[in-house]
Amino acid sequence: MFSFELLHQDRHSRARRGRLQTPHGVIETPIFMPVGTHGALKALTPDQVEACGAQIILSNTYHLHLKPGEGLVEKAGGLHRFMHWNKPILTDSGGFQVFSLPKKRITADGVFFRHEVSGEEIFLGPQQAMEIQNALGADIIMAFDECIPYPSDIGYARQSIQKTLRWAECCLKAHRRSDQALFGIVQGSVYPELRRECAEQLRQLDFPGYAIGGVSVGEGLELLKKVVDDTEPHLPADKPRYLMGVGLPEDILESIERGMDMFDCVIPTRYARSATLFTSRGKLRLTHRRYRRDFFPVDASCGCYCCRNFSRAYLHHLYNANEILSATLAAIHNVHFYLDLVRQAREAIEQNRFSAFKASFLQQYGAAGN
Ligand code: GUN
Ligand code: ZN
Repeated sequence: MFSFELLHQDRHSRARRGRLQTPHGVIETPIFMPVGTHGALKALTPDQVEACGAQIILSNTYHLHLKPGEGLVEKAGGLHRFMHWNKPILTDSGGFQVFSLPKKRITADGVFFRHEVSGEEIFLGPQQAMEIQNALGADIIMAFDECIPYPSDIGYARQSIQKTLRWAECCLKAHRRSDQALFGIVQGSVYPELRRECAEQLRQLDFPGYAIGGVSVGEGLELLKKVVDDTEPHLPADKPRYLMGVGLPEDILESIERGMDMFDCVIPTRYARSATLFTSRGKLRLTHRRYRRDFFPVDASCGCYCCRNFSRAYLHHLYNANEILSATLAAIHNVHFYLDLVRQAREAIEQNRFSAFKASFLQQYGAAGN
């Protein structure tokens, strides 16, 4: 029900072209996964998400557990049916969300925190994360891990990978559904020996896929590249590699070049709501006065519904008038932009010209006044 095939290795970089088979369909990699935290991409219908070229979306254990609860989602026939998205879904384990809460108590077995609204004490550990994700029914589910802040000292990071490794084993034992692939998550902060240790230990557990976590926590692009460089050689070549929470277009391209296959980030949808649109010539802030009479599309080289039908001036007006259509049109464009970027990356890898593609994209993209 789940398989990964490495279709082609770029001749001049570590970039790879792959294909992931899941019960809800095929995913061509490298791929970007738009984020629907609460079981919805903000401002977009599933039809619109599909028209943007999405092959898989991400949703969150933590949020769906709090609201509406996995029991209700299960009763609705699982997350796919509940949200009317019939393609692959990946759920994150909650490891990242609970560790970013301001008030929490971390123990050897998991995390205690309080419900945002009711104040009720809730516990999330590897066992709970598996039960919730088994009930939600995503195609790919994630191990419960500890994502530590940046910077963290090496002593704390070492303790944390021990915990993450122990939890990974618990997750494997608690996992109940053969139609869901459970991915392990490599932690270890910015310390090469810890990344290596964590990757090697996880590898022994033989997960169907591996993620690199603990990045996109304020370390910056140079350290992100270094963490990926330090970790990638210790991941099996025949399994998918998912770089969690990444990122901007430049982060994604640099990481594809370093052998990563899957990415997710709230940036395209979040930026859409604050009027920032991605284009081949850099980012545009559409609330700026300069777009008031600009009757060109957001990006003349984009084929999305927004660019085919509307002008920058119209979007500028929608933001000014506080019309919610601004969020929808901008999200359509931004999500389409990200998915077109990875589509171009896949094509470039197949033709052994990934690095040249990356260089030319970044040159154009950086040329604009951001
Ligand atoms: N999302 C972004 N980073 C992480 C991480 O380190 N762990 C998990 N579970 N999710 C993430
Ligand atoms: Zn567009």
